[in-house]
Amino acid sequence: MKAGGCQLNSALLVVLFLNLCFYGASNSSEVQVCKLCSGTVLSHSEVGQFCSSSAGRVEGRCCLKNGTTSDHSTVTGLDLSNCSLAQVENIQEASTAEIIDLSLNPIANISDFTFQGFTELNKLILPEKVLCPGGATSWKKIGVAKGQRVCEGQNSMCNQTGQMTTDCPENSQCAPFGPGLFECSCADHYHGYKCLREGEFPVLQVFGPLGASTVVISLVLWLTQRRMVKPL
Ligand SMILES: *[C@@H]1O[C@H](CO)[C@@H](O)[C@H](O)[C@H]1NC(C)=O
Ligand SMILES: *[C@@H]1O[C@H](CO)[C@@H](O)[C@H](O)[C@H]1NC(C)=O
Ligand SMILES: *[C@@H]1O[C@H](CO)[C@@H](O)[C@H](O)[C@H]1NC(C)=O
Ligand SMILES: *[C@@H]1O[C@H](CO)[C@@H](O)[C@H](O)[C@H]1NC(C)=O
Repeated sequence: MKAGGCQLNSALLVVLFLNLCFYGASNSSEVQVCKLCSGTVLSHSEVGQFCSSSAGRVEGRCCLKNGTTSDHSTVTGLDLSNCSLAQVENIQEASTAEIIDLSLNPIANISDFTFQGFTELNKLILPEKVLCPGGATSWKKIGVAKGQRVCEGQNSMCNQTGQMTTDCPENSQCAPFGPGLFECSCADHYHGYKCLREGEFPVLQVFGPLGASTVVISLVLWLTQRRMVKPL
């Protein structure tokens, strides 16, 4: 019994910690990527002009959608220009951005996967020597001028000469997933590896952060409680 009680305590600690993590992450209105470097979006810059024309709200290096609630911030623009950035990683928070400016930074190369899921990205401004992610075929227009490379308008990878679409298995649909990237999502009633399994979609996969922490709580409690009531 003594050991069981101790385990319950640590289980509760885990639960508390998990809840702090999950709620902390989902309720925070602070978007870290906006503070990746000092200063704010300048009004005359590309992102600044985009922000005022789309009636957004500037916060640090971001343009945020001026929504009705302040606790859910959607990044529509990200201006990390002149930030002394040597590499670009962990900008997933800005995956809803329509415009990103990375010019005037000593960046050598950027991984294609940095922009995974950036489906809204319509204009990407890079230092001239950095190539557009996904390569030239991933963009409608690429311009080089004044030390900048501007990648504009994403081409969908889902319908180029039928080549990519065939990579998606049967029972699945191809959808754009950022520059040069696509994802295959299983059609209704199919799931699992290569969408080969038919049936109801497993509920676990559609839980949000709250659901996930609840599941973990239940699991931890179930495990510890089960030990406590274990017959002699
Ligand atoms: C954002 O919305 C609030 C209220 O909806 C409004 O008062 C404010 O002027 C808006 N800001 C911008 C920059 O449009
Ligand atoms: C870049 O930033 C530095 C210092 O923060 C500033 O002096 C310089 O004018 C900026 N350059 C441009 C082109 O905005
Ligand atoms: C950038 O280039 C260097 C040298 O070619 C390579 O080692 C590194 O993995 C590249 N980084 C990315 C993010 O592609
Ligand atoms: C792919 O191309 C075909 C023929 O050009 C067209 O009928 C189809 O709607 C396209 N699919 C998508 C997802 O754009």
